Amino acid sequence: MNAPFPAPSLDALTRRMVPRYTSYPTAPHFSDQVTGETYGAWLEAVAQSDAPISLYIHVPYCRSICTYCGCTTRAARRDEPLIAYAATLRREIALVAARLGHVAVSHIHWGGGTPNILPAGTMEAILADLAGYFRFTDDFEHAMELDPRHVTAEGAKALAALGVNRASLGIQTLDPAVQEAIARVQPLDVVEASFSALREAGITAINADLMYGLPLQTEASIAETAEAMLRLRPARFASFGYAHVPWMKRHQTLIDEATLPNGDARLRQAALMRDLLEAGGYQEIGIDHFALPDDPLAAAAREGRLRRNFQGYTDDEAVTLVGVGASSIGRTPAGYAQNAADEHGWRRAIEAGNLPITRGKAFEGDDALRAAIIERLLCDFAVDLPALAERHGAVGETFAAEQASLAPLVAAGWVSLDGGRLEIRAHHHALARVVAAEFDAYLGRGGRHSVAV
Ligand SMILES: C[S@@+](CC[C@H](N)C(=O)[O-])C[C@H]1O[C@@H](n2cnc3c(N)ncnc32)[C@H](O)[C@@H]1O
Ligand code: SF4
Repeated sequence: MNAPFPAPSLDALTRRMVPRYTSYPTAPHFSDQVTGETYGAWLEAVAQSDAPISLYIHVPYCRSICTYCGCTTRAARRDEPLIAYAATLRREIALVAARLGHVAVSHIHWGGGTPNILPAGTMEAILADLAGYFRFTDDFEHAMELDPRHVTAEGAKALAALGVNRASLGIQTLDPAVQEAIARVQPLDVVEASFSALREAGITAINADLMYGLPLQTEASIAETAEAMLRLRPARFASFGYAHVPWMKRHQTLIDEATLPNGDARLRQAALMRDLLEAGGYQEIGIDHFALPDDPLAAAAREGRLRRNFQGYTDDEAVTLVGVGASSIGRTPAGYAQNAADEHGWRRAIEAGNLPITRGKAFEGDDALRAAIIERLLCDFAVDLPALAERHGAVGETFAAEQASLAPLVAAGWVSLDGGRLEIRAHHHALARVVAAEFDAYLGRGGRHSVAV
């Protein structure tokens, strides 16, 4: 008897170009219909609610640019551009605060770039402004992305004094040949010193970012990196597949494509990293995070409270995320709004007294429902479609077409569908972005993405 569906190839599926779904609708579908005025009105509506908000502060500067980098950042060898940037940032915060009023803030995340290269006094001034405008909740989390090469004992103490209580360190790889190939040389002793400095300063909640799929990377080098990092015992790991997008990031053209692991090798590297981190006592969180079982993110994952936003996975329950800084994206219950990505445009708008929004997407139709389905799939690998539809006022919506298109995955035993409850089976979680893409009503209408694994 013939199989009812052609057997899908797992490898081919995980190599499909699909979005990372840190937002839905995804950024390629933002347009200039959302302006600073639109966003201002959205923020004024947020001010009417008692719910705490989350704040993202983007610092798009690094001392030098790593050739693999996919972030929005540029090089600054001196402090002057950073100080000038921070002055504009403070004016933007004032503009945002004027719309938000004295709201509560549950989470601050400094990202970049390398925010820890801001002079301590500059960070202090920004935080003093924030403390004046807003209230911080009792369980307030204050996180910062750090480059270990720029973490000193003195710097770590300064961050702790400013209230930073979670640090995210970019490690990527400890293999000297790979580090050389990505222009990011940071030997193990530099990484160990950054952990010690943070811990001695009292910042014990440490995340470490690791990567696979980098030029010259092998399974042996992944294993060595994972073993050394497991000895340092951070609270969380991220394991990101290198996204090679030279059409968007020109400096990635410096990477020799002939040295990149192929699709099969990437899959094996991702699986090896996951196995080693799990064997080391870490719980798998969503598609690319791992946490010690007593970490709040692990508890949130077990209890179905995990969320996904532009920074990846979080246990932060705030519905509104206000982003400040060039290129940063905000999310409110009404939709997404993105700041001008070029620093000059961003500065000009702020100096004219306007919110520097250039594009965004208002939620319309079933966007919020589809966003919730995609978020649950990427967080829990499971979703109860009718129940979620009902919660969004779409009683009777079963997503029959989407369920039908998943039939080959169900027949292969990778996905189960039972009375509208969709689940991606263990060992096939790598399919989460591919399954989520079936619920993306915008896919195929523009945008170019990276491979699923
Ligand atoms: C915005 S960077 C900031 C961290 C800090 N500047 C550093 O490099 O240590 C945050 C993380 O994004 C990840 N990342 C950067 N470029 C990437 C790419 N092209 N593909 C996948 N992940 C990437 C890295 O794991 C990095 O640690
Ligand atoms: S990886 Fe980090 S340090 Fe390197 S260029 Fe990107 S943001 Fe800067």
